[in-house]
Amino acid sequence: MRIPEHKIDEIRAAADILDVVSGFVRLKKAGRNYTGLCPFHREKTPSFNVNPERGIFKCFGCGKGGNVFTFLMEIEHISFLDAVDMLAERYGIALERQGGPSKETREEIEAMYEANRLAARFFYDTLQGERGKKGREYFASRDWNANTQRVFGLGFAQDDWHAFLHFAREKGLSEDVLEATGLIIRKETGNTYDRFRNRVVFPIISVGKKVLGFGARALGADEHPKYLNSPESPVYNKSRILYGLAQAHPAIREKDAVILVEGYADVLSLYQAGVQNVVATSGTALTPEQVRLLARYTHNLFFLYDADSAGLNAMLRGIDVILEEDCDSRIVQLPAGEDPDSFVRRHGAEGVRTTLEQAVSFVDFITDRFRDEGQLETPEGKTQVIHRIVDLVARMDDPIRREFYIHHVAEKYGIYETVLYRELDRELKSRGRKREAAPPPEVYREHPAEILSEGEMPKEEKRFCQLLLLAPSALQSEVLSHIRIGYFHDTRMQQFLHVLLEQQEHEGAIDIDALWGYVDDDVAMHNLLADMLMEPLRPISDWSQKQTVTPTDERRVLLDAYKNVVGRTLEHHANTLQQRTRKADDPELLQRFVELQRLIKINWAGIRAFEDIPEFDTEEL
Ligand code: GTP
Ligand code: MN
Repeated sequence: MRIPEHKIDEIRAAADILDVVSGFVRLKKAGRNYTGLCPFHREKTPSFNVNPERGIFKCFGCGKGGNVFTFLMEIEHISFLDAVDMLAERYGIALERQGGPSKETREEIEAMYEANRLAARFFYDTLQGERGKKGREYFASRDWNANTQRVFGLGFAQDDWHAFLHFAREKGLSEDVLEATGLIIRKETGNTYDRFRNRVVFPIISVGKKVLGFGARALGADEHPKYLNSPESPVYNKSRILYGLAQAHPAIREKDAVILVEGYADVLSLYQAGVQNVVATSGTALTPEQVRLLARYTHNLFFLYDADSAGLNAMLRGIDVILEEDCDSRIVQLPAGEDPDSFVRRHGAEGVRTTLEQAVSFVDFITDRFRDEGQLETPEGKTQVIHRIVDLVARMDDPIRREFYIHHVAEKYGIYETVLYRELDRELKSRGRKREAAPPPEVYREHPAEILSEGEMPKEEKRFCQLLLLAPSALQSEVLSHIRIGYFHDTRMQQFLHVLLEQQEHEGAIDIDALWGYVDDDVAMHNLLADMLMEPLRPISDWSQKQTVTPTDERRVLLDAYKNVVGRTLEHHANTLQQRTRKADDPELLQRFVELQRLIKINWAGIRAFEDIPEFDTEEL
């Protein structure tokens, strides 16, 4: 369930941070800010500040900071969405979740669920009763026993245009509701008839035990369509449905893994054989909603598909989604001509478990495919493969997982890890918004002394970012078009600059209040923003009195700050190179070292404008 961005903005704007914080802290006015004793750490003198104008808080003692949402998240130990909810209620803002039902239709929706429930019951009773012989014969032919029929509520729709309609009328169900669920179809003449006829019926049930809709299979092999599904409606949304989840979720949680298959039949046969943590996507590519639904139960996905199935290809196209939800996916390809249904019949649950143990990670799966096509044999092919793999790895949020895959791919396919990392850094940068950036490139790792400890930011980088944030709009856009994020070491600063670039691109200007919308619920970024906005910075106070500072001064101050960033990075690279040249007598390294020295001189001495900053590829080391 997502809350639209504009609603979050509306709530943030409506919420009074002084009002909210005052519930926990006694505040006193001090200049533009209010101060008090920090609620997040013990202290005797107040270092906790609130700036109502910007809607931010910041403690200079413990470092916590952010906006009104962050404050509630931290103090109540609640999620971002809960904080949003809480404030929406407090400030009387109606929250209508995107895609969720609105109040007026709630009754209609309940009526649709009720119609579906009665229909499922009706089809089940038909199957078990005297008119269900053909259905029972079909299920017998597929070996789905009485228990499976009961657990999945399987049913039969008899060969009759009005059997269900008459039953529904007797029950007093409204035809409008029946039509909305798709159980009946209305002709132009106004006459109505049953959608599902002479088919076995698979009710699709939610975890909350609501009947969302139906899949109905023709009995004969040559009847078309083979499957007929409920149409899209407020209760049946194909992209959010996973067939079998209602039955499978306890097993998914218990095994901490889910097996994804393509078809209804695959779910039923696996489940009956005792492999119960199984759901089907029903012929479509996995959607983000489905992945999120699964992620409530497990992050381990196993794809059990027949070789070269269309579904597998669709899934591979959907792999991005899976990675972005931080799910781990492994793939099992069944022998050609087999689907999970036939496979489990032939090899039993044990056979399925054995193949699952041989599942390959998606990275291997994709790389193996390239290898089989001979792509790894030519340099160009290899480059392409690296691109594809790195593109996937870059989608993972967790830096440790990224490292794991980079290491793994490097080892298995004989690709230099440095090459992959360089590519990954590039990819992450071009992607902009990332919760955490890549692991530091090799050169920094070799010199741990150079790595700044957590919480400590290179002060010239922070200073530059602060100045930029508070600079006049025209100057901001000018500077943003010239800076090179590669010169910044601190991953949070890089992230921050990416956020600025993104906003500049989308909105044509930097708007500090709207920046929050670009950092979502990322508490670390909330912290950073509050930090930059709250901390007093000498030249900035001057900038607010425009009369005394000319635009050229502003540009010069910012340029100097940037030169400090660039200079520090170049010097750092030079040091690294020097140490390397000492170890190995490599003329190429020496030449680069000399070149770097030249650039450093230019940077400190000869630069008058942002355009003149030396172009030095920080990744070339
Ligand atoms: P069986 O042939 O009964 O074993 O079914 P299956 O579940 O193995 O179906 P198959 O592998 O042919 O297709 C996989 C899934 O795609 C099915 O479970 C359906 O969800 C979907 N599908 C297949 N055929 C159709 C069709 O004709 N129409 C629609 N809407 N979906 C279909
Ligand atoms: Mn099948």
